[in-house]
Amino acid sequence: MKSELESGGSVERAANGAARFASVNPWWAQFLDAAGLDMTGARGDGCYIETADGRTLLDCLAGFGTANLGHAHASLLARFADALQQTSVNVFPFECAESQRLLADKLIALSGRRFGKVFFATTGAEAVESAVKFAMTSTGRPDVVAFRDAFHGLSMFSSFMTGNRFWTEALPWKPGNVHHVDAHNFAALEDMLASRKVAAVVFEPVAGSSSAQHWNAHTSARLAALCRATGTKLIADEVYCGLGRTGTWFGIDAIGMRDASAAPDMIVVSKGLTGGLVPLAAVLLGDADFDAVFGVPGKAKVQGSTFGGNRLAMHCGLIVLDLVERERLVGNAAAMGALIEARIAARFDGRVTVRGRGLALSLALDTEFAPPFGRSMSDVWLDLMDGGVLAMPNSAAPDSLRLSPPLIFGVDEVDFLIDRLDEALQP
Ligand SMILES: Cc1ncc(COP(=O)(O)O)c(C=O)c1O
Repeated sequence: MKSELESGGSVERAANGAARFASVNPWWAQFLDAAGLDMTGARGDGCYIETADGRTLLDCLAGFGTANLGHAHASLLARFADALQQTSVNVFPFECAESQRLLADKLIALSGRRFGKVFFATTGAEAVESAVKFAMTSTGRPDVVAFRDAFHGLSMFSSFMTGNRFWTEALPWKPGNVHHVDAHNFAALEDMLASRKVAAVVFEPVAGSSSAQHWNAHTSARLAALCRATGTKLIADEVYCGLGRTGTWFGIDAIGMRDASAAPDMIVVSKGLTGGLVPLAAVLLGDADFDAVFGVPGKAKVQGSTFGGNRLAMHCGLIVLDLVERERLVGNAAAMGALIEARIAARFDGRVTVRGRGLALSLALDTEFAPPFGRSMSDVWLDLMDGGVLAMPNSAAPDSLRLSPPLIFGVDEVDFLIDRLDEALQP
């Protein structure tokens, strides 16, 4: 991969890529070509992706964490094809579709009935914004607090909740009502919430883009208590970590936020819900917050979405959750995450640190082995790609490597990953 970057041939290839994708994003195509990362995922099969030029890659990204069931899952494809055949009307304005009720009931049941209502949206960012709108409507307050380095999507408002200027510095506008605080800076948080102007605090129980930094039972209970004491809604953004990825159905359970008195007011889920096939997101919330929006004339119009409850996406969600349950993939995510951690501890003697829960993981190099003393994580990443492992650096912490493999990951896959990592760490 590195020799590719250095070779003169890459310049020509970059120009070719840019020309081919002139109508979409020539600059991205050019970057991928120049970096030797211009792959076409020609065929997927379970945890593996075959590229058009004949390479086989162990997929440790699962389409940004969407492909929970891996690729080309036979039952998913057959049942989804069946649902497609039977869907002669997909979006119908004057109904509460039966499939919406079924999927909402399923999500409520999986949450242990901690929530009574579900609102469907299309993307993660839209669902996070929906939750914030519900909090603002329900409390009548205008402000939002999010954590530095968290990621909440790139729609207009979500971009600014995403606590990293990297994503917004090119925009000549910023909302006045989004505030950021460092995770665990309770003194600053207390000051902000004391104003009683904050409608919601948004947090990721296990983060995706900022090296899987996670809360624990103690700090999350403290966060929930602070929100409760000030009448602020607590929103858990589980777009990435929800629905099994952390080895529990919800990220809040993985961090020990089990006590009903410490539960967030809303949970947002998305990526894993439809196995990477169609976009779908959902907000789980309590009856009181839901009714404060949709039960009040004049307020119900505050949020809605053309494709939000479309039948095909509902069917897909039902099929995926059923398969994740039947194949016991939540337990598998916990077991494989623990195995990765154990293998890394045994093989690398403290050189590599693992953060996260289940299969929502992030790897970092111990400072003693990182530059200037050893290899950088980007070197390790490129060598892993050369060795046949698809992974990527975290956008908010590029010196760490994100691992979000399909929940069907097995022992063979763990061993392959660890062997390739061993090779990539060699000086
Ligand atoms: C935690 C989190 N929230 C929100 C989003 C935004 O989701 P989407 O890209 O579907 O809008 C993401 C996407 O990566 C995410 O990881």
